[in-house]
Amino acid sequence: MDSIIKMRDGNKYMSNKKVKSVILAAGKGTRMKSELPKVLHSIFNKPLLGYVLEALNNTDYISDNYVIVGHKAQDVENYVLNNYKNAKCVLQSPQLGTGDAVSKAAPYLKDFDGYVIVVCGDTPLITSETIKDFIDFHDNNHADLTVMSAIFENPKNYGRIIRDKNNKFIAIVEEKDANPKQKEVKEVNAGIYCINWSTVSGAFNSLQNNNAQGEYYLTDIVKWSVEKNLSVQSYILSNKEEIFGINSKLHLAQATKILNKQTVTRLMDEGVQIIDPDTAYISPETTIGADTVIFPNVYITGKNTIGSNCKIGPFAHIRDGAVIGNNVRIGNFVEIKKSIINDNTNVSHLSYVGDAQLGSHVNIGAGTITANYNPISKIKSKTIIKDGANTGSNSVLVAPVTINEMASVAAGSVITKDVEAYSLAVARSPMKQISNWVNKKIEQLSGGIK
Ligand code: UD1
Ligand code: MG
Repeated sequence: MDSIIKMRDGNKYMSNKKVKSVILAAGKGTRMKSELPKVLHSIFNKPLLGYVLEALNNTDYISDNYVIVGHKAQDVENYVLNNYKNAKCVLQSPQLGTGDAVSKAAPYLKDFDGYVIVVCGDTPLITSETIKDFIDFHDNNHADLTVMSAIFENPKNYGRIIRDKNNKFIAIVEEKDANPKQKEVKEVNAGIYCINWSTVSGAFNSLQNNNAQGEYYLTDIVKWSVEKNLSVQSYILSNKEEIFGINSKLHLAQATKILNKQTVTRLMDEGVQIIDPDTAYISPETTIGADTVIFPNVYITGKNTIGSNCKIGPFAHIRDGAVIGNNVRIGNFVEIKKSIINDNTNVSHLSYVGDAQLGSHVNIGAGTITANYNPISKIKSKTIIKDGANTGSNSVLVAPVTINEMASVAAGSVITKDVEAYSLAVARSPMKQISNWVNKKIEQLSGGIK
């Protein structure tokens, strides 16, 4: 592989060329067997396409992203426009192949004198470090076209990187078009390209669909560029997991595992104790402080901040938008959503805390529920529980409501009004006692038998 010179650290993107991206997301994803477009399937509640767009944006190299949409275009477009300001959607209908897909973005790239990076919307594990390194590599080599490749022991279904006798990269041949000798090649096309637009864009006018799939292949731009004597490079990716493409629900589960393993490994390196890394599911966007212990069967999705010395789980569910301080206890069968929980507070058992703000040294009794949602108005309201307050077991706090400093809520109460500081709120029917009730029952029953 003499054409590969890996350039990390110190040999960075130099030329100040602008970079734009094209993300292929028009395909149906037949094997997902789903009504949902493939790229909108989620890992830790974030769609696959979101991972790709964020990896691109986090490079800080890319000014515009063009997402090629087709199957259920409106759904994909809604997601993109609601979440990513620098992304535009371009319709490809019908879907005539990956080459046809990129050509749909061409009108927006007219006279563009920079690099176009092409990625697939279904490869959520790609990292911004790799994308940066890939663009740096392309730039440092003054290449016209760079293709990301990887060496796979089992290259089945991938396009193969074809080299001539002198090991020069000359073409990509799809599995379905490959001869037996080509099928033996283990270097595959990862489906990520960096294109010097001004020299290579002409290729898109000359693509043909006379191949096994009757599609306009993006991969044919390699042959076109070689024929024009342009500089074509391949960049061999060492961490193959990054180009794992999702085609089925099994792949989705496998990608979740891979991502989770990366996250729990990183967190343990940072000093978090994870008792069973196989059953702790933690989204990559969650930060956790050192010496926090994560017990088995914890599920954390979305973006959260958890401090140091906390105990989370077993069987806890943190959904999104939690900001948890230090020395906090989130115990078994507790669900937390979009809530701020300050230092030294305990939510130890069987509780739901949503859209809430808890002060420090708060104690939430077992089975406390913040009733945050009105299903008629569809409005969500806030619960505020100030420093030192506590709730008894099985209390319901009907939001919007405030439990002030050091107040106490009696067990079994349904709280519908603010509770004053330092006071006790009891909102349950008084206990009634019927003396000797059991004796009378027994007498009655035995009389009945006689
Ligand atoms: C493609 C490559 C193959 C490579 C592999 C890596 C081609 C011809 N082949 O094959 O060399 O090894 O990716 O994963 O490019 N899409 C559209 N519009 C279309 C067709 C596809 O947007 O008309 C999108 C799909 O939604 C998908 C991506 O392009 O996100 C790749 O398409 P897919 O059909 O999966 O390509 P492969 O056959 O895997
Ligand atoms: Mg295909």
